Amino acid sequence: MSRNLLLVVTGSVSAFKAAALASKLSQDGFEVRTVLSGGAKEFIGASTFEGLTGNRVFDSTFAPGEAMAHIDLARWADLTLVYPASANTLTKLAQGRADDLVGTLFLAHDFKRPYWVVPAMNPSMLAHPAVAEAVAKLRDWGVKVFDADAGRMACGEVGTGRLIEPETMRKAILAEFVARTRVAGTKPSRVLITAGGTSESLDPVRVLTNVSTGETGVRIANAAAGEGSEVTLLLADTSPFAGEVAPEVRVVRYRSFSDLDLRMRDELGHGNYNVLIHSAAVSDFHIDRIETETGGLVTGTTKIHSKEPLLLRLMPNPKILDRVREYAKNPNLRVISFKLATPAVRGGTSDLSGYDSDVIVHNAVSQIERGTDRHAGEIYERTPEGYAIRSRFKTKSELTAELVALARPTIDGQESLRDSAAELGGSPEVTQ
Ligand SMILES: Cc1cc2nc3c(=O)[nH]c(=O)nc-3n(C[C@H](O)[C@H](O)[C@H](O)COP(=O)(O)O)c2cc1C
Repeated sequence: MSRNLLLVVTGSVSAFKAAALASKLSQDGFEVRTVLSGGAKEFIGASTFEGLTGNRVFDSTFAPGEAMAHIDLARWADLTLVYPASANTLTKLAQGRADDLVGTLFLAHDFKRPYWVVPAMNPSMLAHPAVAEAVAKLRDWGVKVFDADAGRMACGEVGTGRLIEPETMRKAILAEFVARTRVAGTKPSRVLITAGGTSESLDPVRVLTNVSTGETGVRIANAAAGEGSEVTLLLADTSPFAGEVAPEVRVVRYRSFSDLDLRMRDELGHGNYNVLIHSAAVSDFHIDRIETETGGLVTGTTKIHSKEPLLLRLMPNPKILDRVREYAKNPNLRVISFKLATPAVRGGTSDLSGYDSDVIVHNAVSQIERGTDRHAGEIYERTPEGYAIRSRFKTKSELTAELVALARPTIDGQESLRDSAAELGGSPEVTQ
């Protein structure tokens, strides 16, 4: 199912919150297109939304070459959201006026898909009979007009009229799409995602770990849950992204390699998962012995003395990925794994022999930028002839959207990779 969201922003001092929402929804894998009213442009720029959504912004009925944008956008949208909705726009919609793109789009709306309006204005404006009547009329026509929040307004007054917070709105949108996925008769996919880096303890306060933050796995988990999948996230207890996990995602924490291995065995053995997305950065070694130079052994249970040189003996860990099919209750588990290399192999070929994954995300450390959306790489898919490139991605959002498509629930509970990609509107162009 597509996830096309038409975000209509109108002239309110709270318009900046629409940028936060657009950013979150794009990260959740939504395709967000933005319309700015004349009033909105006084508060926020088109470039903000272009940058956050990767899509151009619409603000005129009469833009050259886009004369039919009002019809096309109305047909394209799975959900239209007016956020924030000004008093002017609310009353205009209720009058059916089409003197700008916002009004024209509303008249082109056929009420087959939801149209949501989220008011934001001074409490006296909201209580005015002109606005109250407009709200009642819109609701009567089948528009969902949200109740504004109460609290302190930008003007200093306290009352009802505040814009619903972006995170609350995001949850309502995710819930709407989950509900519609279920209504469409699909079975939820059960997805296990691993994220973050393992830590091996040297002593009670020191660890050997890696630079993985778990951000990619958290994004995929949130987006897959937003699609209606039942998601369990095995998350490193050091991950700084724990606070970002959506409430619909079940989180199980792990620390070391053996911890993660145990939890994966438990989850895959007892939960009937359809898909495993293994994005955790798993240590290739565990600590075998810690010796002092004089031959003494360090137990690992007491804090290491800081003055003496140490000899650390590390032993290779088995590959968890080699064990997951053995752990899994479901013999048809779809395994999606990550292969980090420096640099990622380009041009559609890569030595992926020895892998037993259905899909491999091939990326390079140098192509991942912490704290930004930049994350480039390639997705390979198993074919009868070996692994073939399926798509390339340039951002974390693109990667998330691709992986969510792969984990998407389908009519019979089996994932169809090609169908999912086609449904998404096609994968990025690939030359083999
Ligand atoms: C600083 C400032 C803040 C405003 N905030 C709001 C608001 O929160 N809600 C509202 O309905 N109007 C607000 N307005 C008035 C609208 O921006 C104005 O009515 C505008 O014409 C709305 O146009 P639009 O509906 O086409 O976006 C504000 C105006 C100013 C100058």
